[in-house]
Order: sequence, then C-alpha cells, then structure tokens
Amino acid sequence: MSIPTPTSNPVSHAAPSLPQADLPAGLPDVATLARLANEFFSSVPGLTAPVTSSASNPAPPGSPFAGPGGAGTGIPGLSIPQGKVPGANLAPSSPMHVLSLGNRAPALAPHAISHDGVPDTLQTVAPAMEPRFGGGALGTEPVQVERPSASSAATSGYYFLNDAGPPTHGRQEALKPGQGVSAESFGLPGDDFLRALSAPQRGATAPAAAPTPGSFDRAGSYYFVDDDRKQASYARSAHPPFDVNAIRRDFPILQERVNGRQLVWFDNAATTQKPQSVIDRLAYFYAHENSNIHRAAHTIAGRATDAYEGARDTVRRFIGAASTEEIIFVRGTTEGINLVAKSWGVKNVGEGDEIIVSHLEHHANIVPWQQLAALKGAKLRVIPVDDSGQVRLDEYQRMLNGRTKIVSVTQVSNALGTIVPVQEIVAMAHRAGARALVDGAQSVSHMRVDVQQIDADFFVFSGHKLFGPTGIGAVYGKREVLEDVPPWEGGGNMIADVTFDRTTYQPPPSRFEAGTGNIADAAGLGAAIDYVTRIGIENIGRYEHDLLAYATSKLQPIPGVRLIGTAKDKASVLSFVLKGYETEEVGQALNEEGIAVRSGHHCAQPILRRFGVEATVRPSLAFYNTCDEVDRMISVIRHLSSRR
Ligand code: ALA
Repeated sequence: MSIPTPTSNPVSHAAPSLPQADLPAGLPDVATLARLANEFFSSVPGLTAPVTSSASNPAPPGSPFAGPGGAGTGIPGLSIPQGKVPGANLAPSSPMHVLSLGNRAPALAPHAISHDGVPDTLQTVAPAMEPRFGGGALGTEPVQVERPSASSAATSGYYFLNDAGPPTHGRQEALKPGQGVSAESFGLPGDDFLRALSAPQRGATAPAAAPTPGSFDRAGSYYFVDDDRKQASYARSAHPPFDVNAIRRDFPILQERVNGRQLVWFDNAATTQKPQSVIDRLAYFYAHENSNIHRAAHTIAGRATDAYEGARDTVRRFIGAASTEEIIFVRGTTEGINLVAKSWGVKNVGEGDEIIVSHLEHHANIVPWQQLAALKGAKLRVIPVDDSGQVRLDEYQRMLNGRTKIVSVTQVSNALGTIVPVQEIVAMAHRAGARALVDGAQSVSHMRVDVQQIDADFFVFSGHKLFGPTGIGAVYGKREVLEDVPPWEGGGNMIADVTFDRTTYQPPPSRFEAGTGNIADAAGLGAAIDYVTRIGIENIGRYEHDLLAYATSKLQPIPGVRLIGTAKDKASVLSFVLKGYETEEVGQALNEEGIAVRSGHHCAQPILRRFGVEATVRPSLAFYNTCDEVDRMISVIRHLSSRR
C-alpha cells in the first residue's frame, strides 16, 4: 500500500483553521491525510495506531496518567479503538508542531527497517519537536549562557577563554538563583492516590482522603479531574506541570515500532534513551568543533576544549562538586571504580586491610575490589541485606574497624531498585577512619545528588544512564584525596614533563585522563545534564516514584509473580520472576509486543542468589514512561500468568 506519509508534508499537522490556500500546491489537504491514515491503520491487523496527542485524555498534565505522545489514551485500561488514528484530524496540541515538523523533517527520513512488514516511519505522525529541551515545554524561563570570564581564563590557563569563543550552540548553562530546579512539589493530582496504592507494601498509612481504586472507572469519571482542591494545589505549585507528552516528543526513538507495536522502553537501568538535543549536540560537535583538545593552538582546538571543559563544569554543578578539578572524565562507572581501585587502592590498601561492599553491588563494584584484595592480601567484606533488599546498617556497624580502608556502595541497586542510605554509610565509614566511594550509576537519573552533602570521597556515574552518550562518565574525587592519588594510566595529556629518566604529572583531573578523551561524548553528556536540569530532577523523581508505585500495584497481585526487591525506598526498578516461566520467555513475550525489558542476572549475581534466583525480568522506568505503557506490560504478564 502506498500512502503519502504525513511526515513528508510539513503542514500535515496544521491546525484545522489553516486556510487550504496555504498548503503547498500538489499536497493533499488535511482531511485527505486523515482519511488515508485511518484507512491505513484500519487495514493492518493488530496495528496499534499512533497518537499525536490525545485531546480526549482527561488526565491533567503532570500525572503519569497523562497520555503519552505516542501510545494510547494514557488512562489505565482505556485503550484506543483499533483502526482509529487518535487525533485523526491531525490537529496538533500545540501550534509548535506546524513549524517543528518542517524543521524536523530530515530526522524522520527512512531508517532501519524492522522487517515486520509495517512501514517503520509511519508512526511519526507525532513529530519530534525541533531541538529543544523538554523543560522548554514547561514554560521555564530560558537560562542565559555565561561566557567564560577573563578571570576564569586567567585561572584556567586555557588561552581560548579570552577569545570570543565558539558559538554557544543553544547550550544553556550557568543557572542563576531562582532559575532551574527547586525541591518544591509540583502537586501532582492523583499523587495521594498513587501513594496510597503502595501504602500496604510500604507499611504506611493511607491518606484519609485517598480515593478507592474504583475511582479509575471506565466511564470517564476521573476523580482527580473533578477534585477542585487538588486542582487548586496544582495551580499553586511552584513548578509548571510535568508534561510527559512534550517530553516524549524530545526522544525520537520512542516513536519506533518493534514487531508492529510502538516501542515501550523499560530497559532504562541498562541504558537510557537520548533526547534530540543530545543527538544534535553530538552532530554539532563533529560539524563545527571537532579537534583534539589542549595541545593544538588553533581556533577549532579552542572550540573542542571549550566544549569538553564546559561539560566538566556542567557535571560539577549537577552533582554539587566544589571544583572542576574534582571531576575526571572516564568511559563510565566501571572504568571509574577501576580507576579508584587501581590508583588510590593500590597506594592505600595493604595486607590484612579490609574493603567493604554491600550485597547489592553490581559486578563493577565487586570485581575491581576483589582484584585489589588478591593483589594486596586484603579482605573483602560484604554488608548483608534484609529480606526486602535493604542493607543492614547494624551489621555494617559491626564490620567497621581500624583495618577498614574503604567502603564502596551503590546508591541505587540496579537489580532490585533499593535506594541505599549512602549518606549514613559514608558518615559511618568516616567515623571508622575509612574512605568511601558511592556508585551513582543508577541514582543520578532519578534523584538529586549532592556529593558534598553525601560527603563521599569518590562518586562515580555513567553518562549513558543519564540520557547522555555511551562511553562517557565521571569520577568525582575530593580534591584533598585526589591530590595524593597516583595516576593509573600513563601517556599523553596527563604529564607535566617527560624525560627518559623521569616523568612529572599534571595535577588532577588531567593526571587521570591519559590519551585523547571522549571529547564529543563529554559535550553530549553536558547536553543531557542540561536537559535533565531543565525538567528538574525533583520533578523527575516525583513522577517516577508515582509511576513505580502504580506499576508495583498492578504487578504484585498477578498470580505467580514474585517481586525481587521490596524495600521501602526504591527507584525505577521492578525485578520479578513469574512462576512456570523462564525469565527469557517473559522477556521474549514482552518483546513480541514491542516492550523492551532486560531479563537475566543484570551483572549482579550475588544479590539475585541472595533471593534464591539466578535471573529476573527487570522492567526499569524513566520519566518518559507512562501508566499506559505499564498497562501494556501488565496485560502481557497477566496473559502469561493465566496460561500456566
Ligand atoms: N548495569 C547495567 C544494567 O543494570 C548494564 O543492566
């Protein structure tokens, strides 16, 4: 079948009031496009139609129930009738679409084919917006870029900082007081109810006014729409609504189809998807700034160095470090922990010393310490967890002693989702005279991290789990600790002077960045952090918390489901096994419906074995996921459950 794709027509999302005379000659009008689209979707059995935005969706923006810009109504249990294109009049929810579709047309060109017989670009009825930040859709004020000052140039030693410098390429940095994020609630309507849903598991008391589950009736009477009190508190909120529809349009891959279904990305703990601004930032680097850094005294090298060092400062601000000298770029969390174990560890851990990790750790926070212990004759000790998957602080306290040299713990478990009380763990380590490392791979995308407040000596994270590129991450190290740490890799960039007799090294962070770094991806990481900052990490955390509570409330009661990891404080992860099924079978069944989850051991075998399993199915959520997507997953699991 051949139909003109809406994406080939920049005006196909024009508001109905757009005079037909404005349409370029030879292109079908809006009504024709809508009819053709409906005919197409009606003709493909089982094809779930895409969505521009759901005008009939009664859920308020900011609620996880708000319809995604790509699938379903957003109302749990209320699906879009097959064969109908939601918003089939192609009327946009925002006039922005008219312009942005034109701007974004190249990104909608044909791409990898899924081989399922369904044209993979048709679903892009919902356009990606022009490169922008989701936060822009929230109505936040644009933040002005601060050019490096003459004084910063003087202290940094980078010649180009005195220059007018490269264009700011839309990056928005240097949040001023009152701009950007705040910790205030955005007053999510339905918030109380979602919390009440998880109250039995959490041992909390349900709010007195919490509506009953019957409030989600199928007739369209949604308690939170009519509740004046909640609407009023919503209006008072310090933040504009969290607009998941606008956010979803920033992530082109969310419009992909897999096995004829719109992709649901529930593998966020493995890696996150990238907003258009990050994708564009990488392209911009290679088109306008590509050079090695520091050494070549020419304009393009200045741009590249500016991009790289600018990203370092963005990371510094994001995690609350005092100085960019405390931020070392690495490939990711694994390389970061190896750096600490093989530099600080080799210097400071000796025979008979003790290293403490928790039972929750990813292999990346076990193996480097095991290797160090084997090398030095030290001992690796493990903090046990309780049956919910939370670390036993009482046991930890008993382990600490004068031989403890370092405590290395994750802030959020990748396999269970447990949020670990790292601030307390770090304080206890310090009282025992030990250093502490916090693995932030699974935390930075879900919660505010302030390394000075946590007081960790080292903090590590990966960019690709924070909506940034792969191959880039960071180690934060306290300045006074790093000063005394020898380099771990030798080569260019990290030296002050080399003769055949001896080499002197740069101070941190260059001392730890031998060779040419991942310059473009560092810039991409900076763009990802800018994006997250625009939305507000507290807003993200609150939304995801409610979404996780909703998903847990749906998954837990399914016959045969056993949740692995039920700690009171959890982020993002819903690990489970289903009686009668191998985890791969569940993963495969979900994949057949276009839902991506990880099944396996998640590089955390010890903690899974603690719960008597070798593998789990692990849906993991991010702020672009919705209740509608959760419902799609739940219906597959219910179906499997009913068959065995
Ligand atoms: N650490 C990543 C995960 O948990 C790969 O899936």
